Amino acid sequence: MKLFLDTANTEHVAEIAAWGVLDGVTTNPSLVAKEGKDGSTSSPQVFKATILEMCKHVPCVSAQVTAVDAEGMKKQGEEYASWHKNVVVKVPMTTEGLKALTYFASKKIKTNTTLIFSVAQAILAAKAGATIISPFIGRLDDQGEDGMTLIAEIMEVWAHYDFTTEVLVASTRHPRHIIDAAMLGAHISTIPYDLFKKLPNHSLTDSGIKKFQQDWEKVKK
Ligand code: G3P
Repeated sequence: MKLFLDTANTEHVAEIAAWGVLDGVTTNPSLVAKEGKDGSTSSPQVFKATILEMCKHVPCVSAQVTAVDAEGMKKQGEEYASWHKNVVVKVPMTTEGLKALTYFASKKIKTNTTLIFSVAQAILAAKAGATIISPFIGRLDDQGEDGMTLIAEIMEVWAHYDFTTEVLVASTRHPRHIIDAAMLGAHISTIPYDLFKKLPNHSLTDSGIKKFQQDWEKVKK
C-alpha cells in the first residue's frame, strides 16, 4: 500500500520523506489555509512554491482546483499540471468535476477525485478516467456511518472490473484506519502528520530498546 501525507506543510513532508516510506502528498484548500495562518502558504504564488517544493520529495502531489465549473477546473488543472510532472490535479466529485476528469484523462493529466462518499460516486469517477479516487472515511464515521464499509464495498466492486483507478483512503483519523484499509487492499492511504508520527511507535519497542541498552551497559563493565 502506498502511504501519502495529508498536509500543506513542506517541513512535515521533508521530515516524513526522510524515513524513506512516503509515496505522495495530498493537499486541499483547508490544509493550505491552515498553513497560511503564519503567512507561510497564504497566496497562490506561495501555494505554487509549496507544491513544487513537495514535488522534490515525492512522485505524486495532489493540488486541488477551487473552480466549481468544468471550464474553470480545466483551466486551473492544466496550469497546475504544467508546474511539474509529479502534480496530480484534485477535482471535486460533481457532474462538473466528471466533465473535467474526462477532459484531463484525454490529455493524460493525472487526477485525484475528492469528496467521494458513495460507491456510485466512486464508479462514476473511475469511468470518467480518474487516476485516483478519495473516499473520506473519517467524515462518514463522524456522522455515525461506517467509513471503512465504503472502502470494503468499493474494493469488492473493483475486484469485478478492470478499473485502473487507485483507491485512496482519505480523512483517516487513527492507526486502525490505516491497518483496515491495507487489509482491504486499498491502494493508498493519506495520513495527517500527527497520525503518521504515531505509526512507528509501540510501547514494547520502547521498553525493549531500554532493556537492550541496560543489558549492554552490563556487558561493557
Ligand atoms: O485528504 C482529505 C482530508 O484532508 C480530509 O480530512 O480530517 O478534514 O476529514 P478531514
